[in-house]
Amino acid sequence: MANVTSISKKEIIELLSLKGSEQIELHRKASEIRRDSVSDRVYIRGLIEFSNICENDCFYCGIRKSNNNVRRYELTPDEILGAVDEAASSGLTSVVLQSGERRDRRFISLVTDSLRIIKQKYPFMGITLSSGEQDRSVYEEFHKAGASRYLLRIETSNEEHYNRLHPGAMSFRERIRSLHDLRDTGFQVGTGVMINSPFQIPENLADDILFFQTLDIDMCGMGPFIPHSGTPLGKVEYSAEESFNLGLNMIAVLRIVMPDINIASTTALETLSPAGRESGLMAGANVVMPQFSPFSLRDSYTLYDNKPLGSEDNRGFLDSLKEKIKSLGLIPVTENSGTSIHYIRRTQNVSTC
Ligand code: 5AD
Repeated sequence: MANVTSISKKEIIELLSLKGSEQIELHRKASEIRRDSVSDRVYIRGLIEFSNICENDCFYCGIRKSNNNVRRYELTPDEILGAVDEAASSGLTSVVLQSGERRDRRFISLVTDSLRIIKQKYPFMGITLSSGEQDRSVYEEFHKAGASRYLLRIETSNEEHYNRLHPGAMSFRERIRSLHDLRDTGFQVGTGVMINSPFQIPENLADDILFFQTLDIDMCGMGPFIPHSGTPLGKVEYSAEESFNLGLNMIAVLRIVMPDINIASTTALETLSPAGRESGLMAGANVVMPQFSPFSLRDSYTLYDNKPLGSEDNRGFLDSLKEKIKSLGLIPVTENSGTSIHYIRRTQNVSTC
């Protein structure tokens, strides 16, 4: 296996299918590349799911608009700050604010106000935002108010596939437009896909990897599709083992292809295997995002069935996560918010080769 940054679709498809000893070798190679390019540091970001109200009706997602069995909530700026206080007092200097997607002015002001008060109290707090497609002027407002990273998953890079996972009101082109606007606004841009989602074929995942390369992303968060029983795609045939393996191999191949980006080991991996988060790190990821949302609301942010809730004891959970990271021979980092090295290089116009 060559240390490649340019790779053919056929090679990617082959690598994604590896199992057994060849898979272990793929992950070992990806870990080695991670060490050489972004070091053994694993950045820990506190995840705050601040609202589950959503305008979209994605066919796979548990918080889709037409799921009436969800208790909807929205934190106030003070409550969001309270969750950030909790993360900060546990030593974190990086948080991810995530929500359902809405474009009304009230929502935009809620986000902007929250960003401002967080930055006022914690000027050095790294803030990642994940609140869907917005107008460019809104992205500019969010960036100015203090968010420096933005996660917006494309879900699949194939437009036809996208249209089978989303209702007609949602547009693949709009999502691409949003990703370009985020980049032009100056954000560190992250995207990602659902792995082994309904109607997906191996070629789609290879195209996803090439799409990430073409878009020149700074960060990636991707995870296996897991059915949610209250959604139109909640009953599709599905192999947890297959999804888990593909999830890990996607991380490994992406690390090989884009050595200096930040890659998250996501909660969906943990849902499929108790040590899934650690497996993601062993496959080449370098970011983890433990939950810091108010505990009593976590079961209302059920994107898919059996989503883990973490622990009410955030600090205890964080300590044990750090120990697990150390036991893998990696270094948990909380005191540095972990800017994507890829972003630093591309904005300073330095070659990433
Ligand atoms: N399985 C896995 N991931 C899901 N998401 C939403 N629903 C599911 C599901 N059933 C992911 C999407 C979305 C993110 C917030 O959660 O990728 O972008």
